[in-house]
Amino acid sequence: MRHVLSLDDLSTKEIQRVIEIAADLKAKLANNERPSLLANHVMGLLFEKPSLRTRVSFETLIKQLGGGSLFLGKDVGWGEREPLRDFIPILTSYLDVLVIRAKSHEKVVEATQHSQCPIINGLTDVSHPCQALADILTVQEIAGTLEGQKIAYLGDGNNVAYSLALACAKLGVEFRIGAPKGYQFEESMLERLNGDAGKTWVTQTSDANEAADGANFVYTDVWTSMGQEAETKQRLSDLADYQVNADIMSRAAEGAKLLHCLPARRGEEVSSEVIDGPASAIIQQANNRLHAQKGLVAWLMQVQ
Ligand code: CP
Ligand code: NVA
Repeated sequence: MRHVLSLDDLSTKEIQRVIEIAADLKAKLANNERPSLLANHVMGLLFEKPSLRTRVSFETLIKQLGGGSLFLGKDVGWGEREPLRDFIPILTSYLDVLVIRAKSHEKVVEATQHSQCPIINGLTDVSHPCQALADILTVQEIAGTLEGQKIAYLGDGNNVAYSLALACAKLGVEFRIGAPKGYQFEESMLERLNGDAGKTWVTQTSDANEAADGANFVYTDVWTSMGQEAETKQRLSDLADYQVNADIMSRAAEGAKLLHCLPARRGEEVSSEVIDGPASAIIQQANNRLHAQKGLVAWLMQVQ
């Protein structure tokens, strides 16, 4: 049985196949074709943190594929009523696939050890693989190809940055993070990311302008992720020079697009002028969560 906790759980060919299925099912949906690939299948969504895009895109895609979903929030008593090793085997014996959004990555790893159905990571402190799949689909749609594309990521080297960097290393896309010391990737992680790639696809610098130079896509995410609220003041000050604004966008390639996983905080990691302006591709990117995850679920459930 396969689980997807990180894009490291998929080979390059498998990621490419997921994106291919996603694009195909997206084109079919645009034609109002909704193939019942997962008729009567049930997806569970066990979420410990808030979500809009991840929850709604998963619940929608499974319904479009002929199945149904159950949202399992705080009221199921995760962490309060019983330990994971008691409820995960039961929960996953009812379900066909389980999406988990958890505060700590280790909990999702532990869940896989007791699971009777495939588990998908719907975001942890470490990794957000579904977001990276949607990001890659978006880059491919906008640029027409992944080849030769350069993505600059400004700000916190967090779960979203890590997952996209991993996708880029696997697919051969240049990814450069511009972040201050303390918010960059650990050297060991950088080595691991580039280790199998045959070329150094992932680089980092503390110079925001240098990171953005000639990029086709400029990406950012919140400076304070869920669970880091106590550090907000420090983070606002440490990351103040890494805002994606008109000046940063002027360093990027002509026609460069802004990407952001959302939710965004205007005036912090991104200026209103940029996120609400013509360079912003955030709506297309968020919409692609539905299609990319549909590709992932269809592939994981072996119906495509
Ligand atoms: N980008 C993302 O995962 O959004 P949600 O937190 O709303 O699911
Ligand atoms: N880095 C953010 C992403 C939210 C989708 C967080 O973890 O809160």
